[in-house]
Amino acid sequence: MDKKITASLKGIYSHGLDSQAGRYQALIEMFKRAYPGQKKYFIFRAPGRVNLIGEHTDYNGLPVMPMTLDRDIAIVASPRKDNLVNAKNFDEEYGTRSFAIKKTIERYPSGDWGNYLKASAQALVNINRNLKGMDCVIQGSVPKGSGLSSSSALVVGTGITLMRLNRMNIPKIKLVGIFSEGEKYVGVQGGGMDQTVSLMGMKNKALKIDFFPVEIKYVALPEDKYSVIVCNSLKVAKKSGKMKDQYNEKSLSCKLAMAMLDKKLRQEYGKKFAISFLGDLRNKKFRKLIEDKRKFTDKYFHEEDYHIGEIANFLGIKKETAVKKYLTLRDGSVLGNIKAGFNLNKRVLHVLTEWDRVEGCVKMSKAGKWAEFGKLMYESHASCRDNYEISCPELEKLVGLAKRFGAAGARLTGAGFGGCTVNLIKIGTESRFIDFMKKRYYKEYLKTDFNPSYINICHTTPGAGLVLTGEE
Ligand code: GLA
Repeated sequence: MDKKITASLKGIYSHGLDSQAGRYQALIEMFKRAYPGQKKYFIFRAPGRVNLIGEHTDYNGLPVMPMTLDRDIAIVASPRKDNLVNAKNFDEEYGTRSFAIKKTIERYPSGDWGNYLKASAQALVNINRNLKGMDCVIQGSVPKGSGLSSSSALVVGTGITLMRLNRMNIPKIKLVGIFSEGEKYVGVQGGGMDQTVSLMGMKNKALKIDFFPVEIKYVALPEDKYSVIVCNSLKVAKKSGKMKDQYNEKSLSCKLAMAMLDKKLRQEYGKKFAISFLGDLRNKKFRKLIEDKRKFTDKYFHEEDYHIGEIANFLGIKKETAVKKYLTLRDGSVLGNIKAGFNLNKRVLHVLTEWDRVEGCVKMSKAGKWAEFGKLMYESHASCRDNYEISCPELEKLVGLAKRFGAAGARLTGAGFGGCTVNLIKIGTESRFIDFMKKRYYKEYLKTDFNPSYINICHTTPGAGLVLTGEE
């Protein structure tokens, strides 16, 4: 194995160094075969993430607590003098994509992986009209559609590669905003958690991220006491697929709730109580008002679903205006099925109580109280299921089994609707846990053959960056 590669990877991966080195070596060879004219190459990587707690809080300006994974996107690339991006996927089923960078880059059909590359290129060309292209090969080891952020890792990985090849120097903290806004190109009205942790992650730490403005605190992990293990439900929830509408329904419900709350608070307490997102409630002046989150939610939102007409009426605007203002996506399309109601009471209750749980977990991590941390994870899962309605039978089965096994904590992670659960498992009992899940979930419940890639003990890595440079 090439010593230079192994040496560069040592600071990144704490496990499986040989297989990582083999992976990078194969990628370099593919690059050389694909682009024989390119002599000098650069290798970048961007990690996926697992969210420990704080689900669907980010786009509301409330905190999250994710950590990076050693599952990532690796890119070998050389700059081009023109504006073409040629990207070959190591995984043959994804094939090659080529496109020109220009002021407005047209999307591939919805669901195409190339849209994530275009999302980064579009975000950067908005800043640098002279952005040049690249020849690259890309390989991803984050399982797709599993809630571990394979798409944001691709956006961040492509973005930092294009940036560095174009000698653009933008501080990472600024890139967070650029790439989270940039990813909306694909059509999901997501928040900034995934891009932030992929960029700013740190080895052996979780991150507490606050938003608007982005602020990061590095938080201890229970390294010598518990392992963080993810189990893949095998129910695929791809951001670019059907999940897009389901996800957007959640984030747009919060926008509607916020508009109503803003009006109600101003009516009751005057202009200085105006809010522009739920996270504004962090301000000291709201402390008393939101002391009891359930009371607060019940005071301002009825339990039944709201219809867009009722909301428009309350806001004193036409229904069409409300649809345009609150239910239209960045790509100009209107959220599907807007006739179905919006349960604003439940959505707000989840977001506000989840915020409390994140703050609780930060405290528990500081105090080393991991059993308490785990309890909050179970509570978060229950709220994701009952109030945010993003669980599914597969995730319920996985969390139920983890509880039966005796996991300190377990919950769905990421956007929901499928994907993975994250589990806090006592050190020394990992293989028993894996055997238990293998038998009870994959064999008995899903009736499928088990593949070791379905369950992963999570190891943190540094945030996105240059791995090494090489020359023929
Ligand atoms: C997806 C989004 C994130 C976040 C999570 C839910 O991963 O990309 O911004 O909203 O869902 O917590």
